[in-house]
Amino acid sequence: MTQYSKRMVIVHWLTLALVVAAWFLGHELDEARHEEGATIAGYIAHALVGGTVLLLTILRLAFRSKDGTPPPVGQSLMDKVAKGIHHGLYALLVLLPVSGLMTVVTSDVGKALLAGDATLLPKKFTGIVPHDVHEMLVTVLIVLVVVHILGAIKHQFIMKDGLMERMSLRKKD
Ligand code: HEM
Ligand code: HEM
Repeated sequence: MTQYSKRMVIVHWLTLALVVAAWFLGHELDEARHEEGATIAGYIAHALVGGTVLLLTILRLAFRSKDGTPPPVGQSLMDKVAKGIHHGLYALLVLLPVSGLMTVVTSDVGKALLAGDATLLPKKFTGIVPHDVHEMLVTVLIVLVVVHILGAIKHQFIMKDGLMERMSLRKKD
């Protein structure tokens, strides 16, 4: 095995697209709330995209244990760091949506969604710990994704070892 399985590759790139969409929708929500223009539809859209990330990640971990992974690229310290970042990313792909869900349940967002009434939406999340955790995890995710992408760029353009092909649908020759 020299590449990730097809379904692992598809879910990897689909997750990238969904995480970008969830991040964008989350920011739009935050801005709309500060301008007192948040809508129920905005919260539902963000929760649906973020919730899909969680479901896809659970599916991905099941694919991973069934299909396996290509052998490690190497045993250097950097390879071990990269592996640690992969584990961190998986943890975040679960914890981030869970903390979002907890925010909904522990704040007035839940009540507003159940009643379908935007006037019940919170103006602030003061004292709502899951919201603080959600925001903090977003920052950690951004840092890890940036390091992850820099690593991929280094392999592609400096080391030129074909690492990107491992996460590609094109068959390696
Ligand atoms: C990969 C998944 C997710 C990402 C990347 C994400 C990202 C974000 C971002 C960037 C914000 C704005 C934070 C800020 O104030 O700076 C946010 C806020 C929020 N997210 Fe998420 N989120 C995800 C999943 C979820 C899920 C699954 C839910 C609920 C089921 C959720 C509920 C919320 C809520 C209630 C807020 C507060 C919005 C506000 O400020 O009014 N998130 N999220
Ligand atoms: C432009 C953006 C991205 C590029 C170029 C990229 C590239 C790659 C490559 C080449 C691999 C294979 C590494 C190896 O074989 O050792 C990989 C694995 C991985 N990527 Fe990305 N990635 C990107 C975005 C993301 C994002 C946004 C996430 C999650 C939020 C993510 C999570 C992961 C994880 C968890 C693995 C490990 C797969 C496993 O072993 O199960 N990637 N990525």
